[in-house]
Amino acid sequence: MHLLILNGPNLNLLGERETAIYGTITFDSFLEKLKHRYSNISIDYQQFNIEGELIQAIHNANHLYNGIIINPGAFTHTSIALRDAIKAIDIPVVEVHISQVMAREPFRKRSYISAVSKGCIFGFGLNSYQLAIESFIAD
Ligand code: DQA
Repeated sequence: MHLLILNGPNLNLLGERETAIYGTITFDSFLEKLKHRYSNISIDYQQFNIEGELIQAIHNANHLYNGIIINPGAFTHTSIALRDAIKAIDIPVVEVHISQVMAREPFRKRSYISAVSKGCIFGFGLNSYQLAIESFIAD
């Protein structure tokens, strides 16, 4: 199995950004553990702060991967273009969030991505990504 993890804006700052919400672990060190744990799965990772680059990465991933695990960051709540990109490809996309977005500010309760995703996992810290991998394994 070949999975792509895509992170959106500001998630390159994990480990130093709003640590009370997002924790103190960098994504790179988390990814290393994840790859070790799922050594039988090929896991690629890309992060983009720019919306169009994230959209391009979604287009590029089509048919190359069995699925995408995406944390679109704040684009979750704003981007119809991102939603359309996910709708335009054939491989399944699982939406993840580190924080419990439903328990935060009201503007985080709206996701343009959820309805075009296979499923959504949020609120489990970085383990949200692990649970998303498990969802592909269980499939
Ligand atoms: C986030 C939640 C978003 O609302 C926020 O804009 C982020 C991170 C999360 O993983 O909890 O950047 O996607």
